[in-house]
Amino acid sequence: MISLTRSPAWEALLEHYRESCDLHMRDLFNADSERFAKFSIQLGDLLFDYSKNRITQKTVTLLMDLLRDRGVIERREAMFSGGHINVTEDRAVLHVALRQQDETPVYVDGENVIPLVRQMLKKMRDFCDHVRSGEWKGYTGQPITDIVNIGIGGSDLGPQMVAQALTSYVDGPRPHFVSNADGTQLSEILRNLDPRTTLFIVASKTFTTQETLLNAGSAKKWFLSRAGNEEFVAKHFVALSTNREGVQNFGIDPENMFEFWDWVGGRYSVWSAIGLSVALAIGMDRFEEFLAGAHEADVHFRTAQPERNIPMLMAMLGIWYNNFYGCGTQAILPYNQYLSRFPAYFQQGDMESNGKSISVDGVPVNYGTGPIIWGEPGTNGQHAFFQLLHQGTKLVPCDFIACAQPLNPMGKHHTVLISNFFAQTEALMRGRTLAEAKAELEAQGLAPNRVSALAPHKTFTGNRPSNTFLLKRLTPFNLGLLMALYEHKIFVQGTIWNINSFDQMGVELGKQLAKNIQTELAEGGRATRHDASTNGLINAYQHMSRD
Ligand code: F6P
Repeated sequence: MISLTRSPAWEALLEHYRESCDLHMRDLFNADSERFAKFSIQLGDLLFDYSKNRITQKTVTLLMDLLRDRGVIERREAMFSGGHINVTEDRAVLHVALRQQDETPVYVDGENVIPLVRQMLKKMRDFCDHVRSGEWKGYTGQPITDIVNIGIGGSDLGPQMVAQALTSYVDGPRPHFVSNADGTQLSEILRNLDPRTTLFIVASKTFTTQETLLNAGSAKKWFLSRAGNEEFVAKHFVALSTNREGVQNFGIDPENMFEFWDWVGGRYSVWSAIGLSVALAIGMDRFEEFLAGAHEADVHFRTAQPERNIPMLMAMLGIWYNNFYGCGTQAILPYNQYLSRFPAYFQQGDMESNGKSISVDGVPVNYGTGPIIWGEPGTNGQHAFFQLLHQGTKLVPCDFIACAQPLNPMGKHHTVLISNFFAQTEALMRGRTLAEAKAELEAQGLAPNRVSALAPHKTFTGNRPSNTFLLKRLTPFNLGLLMALYEHKIFVQGTIWNINSFDQMGVELGKQLAKNIQTELAEGGRATRHDASTNGLINAYQHMSRD
């Protein structure tokens, strides 16, 4: 295939960028009263408005020409049908099979995986029912009141974000999450827990991750120091993993292991057994609604034509800003407290997937790939970093997410929240001209010299792009829907950039070096094998940590 930046579709976009980059969205809205209708899509309970972007109909056409040209449609089909699209690890990528709603076979290397998925869901359901009903008892015969998910990365961020997002649906044991190697996190959580009523869920795809095994080992020690008998571990520790042997070696009965498979990527694993802590907290029926919501997004992604396909539009708008406008970051701004971990979750989802500079053919790319993903919930962000979004020198495309119906109605709170939500995207788009700023200052009765001095500071260029996602209500189904749209966006962008979105080799070097340093620290001698800075720091640490 001809290289990305030399392809006619890319060149057409470049030319279009040159001729359209000075257009102001204000003028585009003024010129077309149908712009919102043209550039918005309703999918179930979700309204996706992308009209506040620096695009015309021609931009969308050219972006979708590029999408078709780069084989996104074919690769999408390869993913859904179990092709080994994770080429470096020679694996299928089938988180979509975990949420498939019917029995249509999906083959991985000749084996239909749908029966495996069904069996696992059944095992999760039985277990959840047992624990939630109180039939599953701790070592003193008391029911489980608290669960602690011990994992990191995809084995933590997914269940943690989803459990938090669905807090108002929790009617089972209270979920807690431990991920950090810093023992402070585990200590602070254990401080308030009772070993007799606590269930530990050790979540690790590989069951080799240092932080997780460290935390799990310490949790087990804490438990045994209270329970006093190794036999009781079976009632208080379960594992979620693909590595049966690792689980057994750790001392967890394989009966208490909930399996998933190498075709489920860590950052796409919350739909698998990795979601057990969520299922225990909200019940299996609701967990299955969450899967069904994601499936609705899968069907949309697979069947809607590119010009009306939400993840494809999200992805191609991202390409437009990343590769043509040179934007290096993308903000995700949920105006919903329950979604406060949503940006962090997709920080891993996106940056671990598309933070790559080598193409699938093994050569360095000569164009920008994955953006930096960041964000905080609104309205807090408005009082922190929105200044830069509105008046800074950097263009930051933003995703705004909110729900029409609050789950905790309280006085005027929701009206205030949602008014700010709408106002921000309007302000980013419209801006305020110098003339408008002057008129406003004059209306306040300021002297002409003050008006002239202040007006430039009160001017907003506007023309700053945003997408709006308006959900009817934050339900398990709608959360699944929203998350799967973002997942598919990542897939489409990775395909355009010709990188493998499903490995994460960039995390390995640091892990290896940490192991060497750990040995050195245990030996306690003077560090000499590193660069001067690293040697100096290690030696200073050895000295400073003595008393
Ligand atoms: O180090 C990165 C990573 O491999 C992530 O991709 C993954 O989500 C996380 O570590 C945890 O891995 P595991 O589930 O195997 O413990």
